[in-house]
Amino acid sequence: MKSVQLKQELSEVSVSNVIENQDQIVILGGVPLHGEVQVSGSKNSSLPILAASLLATRGQSVLHNVPSISDVDVMCKMISSLGAKVTREDHTVIIDASHLNTSVAPEKYVRQMRASFYVAAPLLARLHCAEVPLPGGCVLGTRPIDYHINAFRKMGAVIIVERGAMLAKADRWEGAKVLLDHKNSSVGATVNIMMAACLAKGITTIENAAREPEVINLGDFLNKMGGRVSGAGTSTITIEGVAELHGTEQEIYNDRIEAGTFVAAAVATRGNVRVCGLSPSHLPVFLEKYQEAGVSISTGDNWIQVQANSPYSGVDISTSPFPGFATDLQPLFLTTMCLAQSKSVIQETIYDGRFNYVPELLRMGADVDITDNTAIVHAVPKLGAAQVKSSDLRAGAALVIASLAAEGRSEISNVKYIDRGYENLTAKLQNLGAQVARQHLPISDAEDVQQAGRITSHK
Ligand code: EPU
Repeated sequence: MKSVQLKQELSEVSVSNVIENQDQIVILGGVPLHGEVQVSGSKNSSLPILAASLLATRGQSVLHNVPSISDVDVMCKMISSLGAKVTREDHTVIIDASHLNTSVAPEKYVRQMRASFYVAAPLLARLHCAEVPLPGGCVLGTRPIDYHINAFRKMGAVIIVERGAMLAKADRWEGAKVLLDHKNSSVGATVNIMMAACLAKGITTIENAAREPEVINLGDFLNKMGGRVSGAGTSTITIEGVAELHGTEQEIYNDRIEAGTFVAAAVATRGNVRVCGLSPSHLPVFLEKYQEAGVSISTGDNWIQVQANSPYSGVDISTSPFPGFATDLQPLFLTTMCLAQSKSVIQETIYDGRFNYVPELLRMGADVDITDNTAIVHAVPKLGAAQVKSSDLRAGAALVIASLAAEGRSEISNVKYIDRGYENLTAKLQNLGAQVARQHLPISDAEDVQQAGRITSHK
């Protein structure tokens, strides 16, 4: 019945003057999710591996299980703009990077996506010069790239930062000992240094390296290309430089954050969902915290079953690098904690802007107090439907989860953020029984929705 109702409501909206990225997601919430969902390839594995394909001076790189998301589109455009030939068919991307024609990365791609900076290492390693715009801050906070630049300098690059770009030249390109920050071990810096070191003379060691699965996936790819990387997935990675790398085939891991999103959606809607295609070992702490809260979770080698029909209690978390509680899962987890039976305390240690979505949750009836990097989440019996606006990728996912749980019609605008990292999100949710649709808005309506999203709510 509800599906018919949603279709009727949507058909009443004019679809003339449709423009890209003015879509919104409409949800009639309050329906427990049921069934099975298959996780897509990982965004954060695809991006460094696509950039690393630039290191191959001969042969094609064939990447399987690459998700169809807008961040992958941007990275494919970025590497094409540098001279690589890129062919995409379904979830396979084939890259021939035997000829690069420039060491200058276009600003428009770095502006759209911070991970575009990953091309800095292959350019420097292969061409010994690179001009790459700095990504700058983003909605999550300042997000500097000093670790990357300091490492490139240690390896021999002379770097100046001018007119918002890193200009780097390396007359010598040598292995180095790089010590990353022990608290903020950076995925981006780790993967950039791994790529840079593969073609450097001698040995590079990275101490306090990020241990995320995406680092292991990249290390595997680099080794298949002829690289000599050991220790990926531990806090010390050693790379012995080689003279050249060649194309190879690589399977991209499945997306652990997408898997976590479906787990959280099942919890919030009190559903019963099997999330397929992910090893539970890629979601440490997150699954344990739900079990601690009283949610029934069982796991197999490659699946996670969430049975969330009963009430659950609030539990506290603090984000930290892998294998800790991932910051990307924090907005999703906090949203489910709003609907727990008791208070929880959520501490964010990675990004100063990571609570930006909370004012939108307050519009939906959540009761959350934020002081500095800590949110105190007071449990509420239910959330209410509302018009809300995503401020970043995971903020958008959190608002989708809140809307799935809230009875009534919610509208989530700024869907372009969700498109950055989730493949076919609405279709996958529909398969789980959610009443959800994507709606194209005429320009004037889209502007109204954006205005509505700008209203700040005060608790
Ligand atoms: N940092 C520095 N200096 C640097 C680099 C990082 O101080 O030169 C600090 C940052 O300020 C932050 C921490 O180190 O406190 C980690 O941030 P980083 O910028 O290195 O993160 P990243 O590698 O760029 C990846 C994911 C993010 C995820 C973080 C943390 C990709 C493409 N992005 O970013 O994913 O939040 O690791 O796990 O892999 C997302 O998918 O929504 C997303 C934001």
